[in-house]
Amino acid sequence: MRLAISTGGGDAPGLNAVIRAAALAAIHRGWDVLGICRGYYGLLGEDEIIPLTRESVRGIAYMGGTILRTTNRGNPFEFPVQQADGSYALVDRSGEVLDNARAMGIDALISIGGDGSLAIAQRFFEKGLRVVGVPKTIDNDVSGTITTFGFDTAVTTAIEAIDKLHTTAESHDRVLVMEVMGRHAGFIALHSGLAGTADVILIPEIPYDLECVCEKIRARDRMGRHFSIVVVAEGAFPKGGQESVIGGSLPGESRRVGGIAGRLAWDIEQMTGKESRSLVLGHLQRGGMPTGYDRLLAARFGGAAVEAVENEKWGHMVALQSPHIVTIPFTEALAVHKRVDPHHDIVRTARATGISFGD
Ligand code: F6P
Repeated sequence: MRLAISTGGGDAPGLNAVIRAAALAAIHRGWDVLGICRGYYGLLGEDEIIPLTRESVRGIAYMGGTILRTTNRGNPFEFPVQQADGSYALVDRSGEVLDNARAMGIDALISIGGDGSLAIAQRFFEKGLRVVGVPKTIDNDVSGTITTFGFDTAVTTAIEAIDKLHTTAESHDRVLVMEVMGRHAGFIALHSGLAGTADVILIPEIPYDLECVCEKIRARDRMGRHFSIVVVAEGAFPKGGQESVIGGSLPGESRRVGGIAGRLAWDIEQMTGKESRSLVLGHLQRGGMPTGYDRLLAARFGGAAVEAVENEKWGHMVALQSPHIVTIPFTEALAVHKRVDPHHDIVRTARATGISFGD
């Protein structure tokens, strides 16, 4: 068996722990293991394909990032290719991936990625590639799995930031608006906001009313709490409005959600008269050491993915359905976009402890 491993989409803490566990579990079975560098670029002849040995995966489990590198602009079915006039066209290069995989004697691929990468893996599976998936995202927006590695680390980073914002906000009697990642899902904002005891949490699943947000801040002022912490998911939007977008102009790139914190802080300052500042936590949430929880989940996913290859579960991804790791078809994971349930106990508890969702 010659097994290839690739990482695609945005990185997430825990990727290296998956790579290590999968490579070692495969080597343990006597298999040959290759790492495809930068998503599918390695299989397109545009980057390297490297052997993954006991030596090359040694000491990486605690490291953020991915030793295989990654990209969120490398969909082989819509690959950006520069034309003679300098413009870019999206070209289907999936055939090259399959030809190169065959030429290299690759028997199976473990594709580690989020919903975008899983959708690409499904298309390759339909074209005959023997592929197994490992869900990855700090956003926690992949269906069929209770959580993904990277999410706990991102939430932990966000909580640490909220803790730090509390002291400076209180010292200055300010409103501090912190924007966290999540794309169209509000999990990072919700979990970090409740655990970090924010005063307002704004998520895409509960469109907000700016006046309600300001009223919460004014009410705190009346109670002698002259500062407030607002945690806003980058994809949150006002009732009847739209999410804030700040780019996504490069060839093959999807639009980038973000920029809402600065606007909100400005609006809050105008409407309440309270000094307000904003912070975009950004890629800090994607970097650094994975937490113990994420490292363990990543290792379990890596080991389970190799078992899935052994059991020929092509077109399936591993998933956490506590207490077990199971496999489910890509199609099942892709059928529903996982989002915060506005009636979830975490939302109810947040409301019961006085947190406003601006609704
Ligand atoms: O999906 C993970 C994520 O970090 C989102 O939360 C965020 O919107 C996006 O990726 C940012 O991606 P990048 O800056 O890498 O293009």
